[in-house]
Amino acid sequence: MNLTVVGTGYVGLVSGTCFAEMGNTVTCIDIDSKKINNLKKGIIPIYEPGLEAMVMRNVQNKTLQFSTDLSVHLDKIDVVFIAVGTPMGDDGSADLQYVLQVAKEIGRHMTHPMIIVDKSTVPVGTADKVKRTIQEELNIRKLSIDFDVVSNPEFLKEGDAINDFMKPDRVVIGADNEEAAKKMRTLYSPFFRSSADRLILMDVRSAEMTKYVANAMLATKISFMNEIANICELVGADVNKVRIGIGSDSRIGYSFIYPGSGYGGSCFPKDVKALKRTAEEHGYTANLISSVETVNDKQKLIIAQKVVKRFGEDLKGKTFAIWGLAFKPETDDMREAPAIYTIRELTNRGAKIQAYDPKAMDEAKDFYLKDIKSISYHSSKYETLQNADAMILLTEWKEFRSPDFEEIKVQLKQPIIFDGRNQYNDTQMDELGIEYFQIGKQT
Ligand code: UGA
Repeated sequence: MNLTVVGTGYVGLVSGTCFAEMGNTVTCIDIDSKKINNLKKGIIPIYEPGLEAMVMRNVQNKTLQFSTDLSVHLDKIDVVFIAVGTPMGDDGSADLQYVLQVAKEIGRHMTHPMIIVDKSTVPVGTADKVKRTIQEELNIRKLSIDFDVVSNPEFLKEGDAINDFMKPDRVVIGADNEEAAKKMRTLYSPFFRSSADRLILMDVRSAEMTKYVANAMLATKISFMNEIANICELVGADVNKVRIGIGSDSRIGYSFIYPGSGYGGSCFPKDVKALKRTAEEHGYTANLISSVETVNDKQKLIIAQKVVKRFGEDLKGKTFAIWGLAFKPETDDMREAPAIYTIRELTNRGAKIQAYDPKAMDEAKDFYLKDIKSISYHSSKYETLQNADAMILLTEWKEFRSPDFEEIKVQLKQPIIFDGRNQYNDTQMDELGIEYFQIGKQT
């Protein structure tokens, strides 16, 4: 099929590239000309394993191209995907201005029937707004063209996005028209060739809701476990054992019950807030969803609190080595990362930071921690430790999993580790003489 994908952010770029890989002809559009020029040269704006090679391959095969102009890329197109950002508005709701701008542009330039797909995470009712916006433009042009607006939320995880797209657990399609549903099934069926058909068809509003509910459910699991971890510490239990104990019940399962220093990223924080806001707009107070957010806000400061408990309120003259800045491994994304909150809290109290992350240091320097003077960035994890008072692990990158603990002991002023992701074994830490602080177990 001939596809146009509008928005070359995470979702748009991965989706467009994977559709091209599956044999479709895809044009990815973005208004950011610098981004588009870079993409044409094979320079990818994000770090995502496997993406660069796949983009290059499809550009060479001429199945993937990039452009800044949507108006000239609607000709002979079967499906247009809207994958632009839906940033959080001041009141917590999703800001739809970019989605509706694209809808307007489509209405202004479409010349034949097509399917318009909402792939951005958008609140319930957005497909209706997109439809109205396109129709208004067609009315101005005095044209009558059939089109369908379909909801197709994206469930990919950063760091594993290609795999999630190429071998999906499920594809959710919300369509109010059988023809449109049939076309979407044809587009996705190659992705299920090696597995059972996992395409779930429903009405548009249920599909829009499914995206928020999936993320809110996962965020709830994490906040629940973080709260349990805090209770475990108080009663002298070990959350690592409790996690295995409960996960073995197949109704609960092992996934997404790892306690830590809170969830971050571009999705969970924004989507939990937006779902709460949607409920409010309909006169409902979503108490559980609100608590998920409150627990997470507190949890992002849990490691800083442990440091204060160990070193005192005033951290002037203290230096901490931070291992990991990204909100999770295999990404350079620092949006809502616990590292931002931890580092701000420590530096506000006078501490100096020596940081290392395999991929996210540019993001930190140029954007998220740009204003912080008392931070230095280092080219290796061991270099951060020199003369530091303690090491703090905040992202579970593979290279942090089994480090040389003797080297850590040599470099640090005193052997103290704060672990925001429970990566190490406390018995081993004891044997090594390392003072070890983790989440959900008393030291
Ligand atoms: C999340 C969802 O997992 C995807 O299914 C969804 O498509 C995506 O949001 C989206 O809406 O676009 P992502 O934000 O990339 O994906 O990251 P996750 O792997 O889900 O991790 C989110 C956060 O939860 C991370 O900070 C991670 O450290 C934390 N987490 C995860 C925990 O603290 N404990 C866990 O057990 C699992």
